[in-house]
Amino acid sequence: MSKIHLIITRQDSPDGPSYKEEFFIGYRPHMNVISALMEIRRQPINRYGRRTAPVQWEMSCLEEVCGICSMIINGIPRQACSTLIDQLEQPITIEPMRTFPVIRDLIIDREFMFDALKKVKAWIPIDGTHDLGPGPRMNEKGRLMAYELSKCFTCGVCLEACPNVNDKHDFLGPFVFPQVRLKNVHPTGEMNKDERLEAFKGRGGLQGCGNSQNCVQVCPKGIPITTSIAAVNRAASLQAFKSFFGAD
Ligand code: SF4
Ligand code: FES
Repeated sequence: MSKIHLIITRQDSPDGPSYKEEFFIGYRPHMNVISALMEIRRQPINRYGRRTAPVQWEMSCLEEVCGICSMIINGIPRQACSTLIDQLEQPITIEPMRTFPVIRDLIIDREFMFDALKKVKAWIPIDGTHDLGPGPRMNEKGRLMAYELSKCFTCGVCLEACPNVNDKHDFLGPFVFPQVRLKNVHPTGEMNKDERLEAFKGRGGLQGCGNSQNCVQVCPKGIPITTSIAAVNRAASLQAFKSFFGAD
């Protein structure tokens, strides 16, 4: 392979029409999708030899930590920095994740995800920034589980794969379940567990999941999303039971 053939779905502005543009760039071993995009940025000449506007995308960590470079590559939502050209069939198609508003080309707005985390109160309130001493210790089993849940980097890939995250539903997305579970198993976060579950009972929360299980298949961090959905549902049912019959 001496050339790489890329078909990129582009959009010049948030409200503009989308269109495809094709590029051929020189092959180098061990390239990732970001380095291919950088090659286009360096020399923005399309397959017809015409100079065009450089393709826009976002990147930061370049090691699958920040989640900002998520896009659909050969039909699969994933991170451009950790997707290697050598492992892709050609021509390589690259599209923005359509679950989110497109700002330009491959740049999307993930604000929806951060709003969802606010809605379900996915944080642990503290009394202040003064030294409160060491917090309560977690048992090893709980700590290991919390560590797995904490790997979420709000990349948005599970929302893109979920059939229930769209204009017709108000589902907040699969990623909120592991985050609610994470904050609820934390010894300090547990104090606000009921408040969090209550917030989750509203529109777009617990009832939104259609159990397609696409989320768990695409999550790059292997987060136990479906077991978290089951765990949060169980906790919410228990809470409803207690509030109906009384905690005793
Ligand atoms: S749960 Fe996985 S796929 Fe979903 S946002 Fe978090 S890291 Fe990405
Ligand atoms: S650049 Fe941070 S995840 Fe790809």
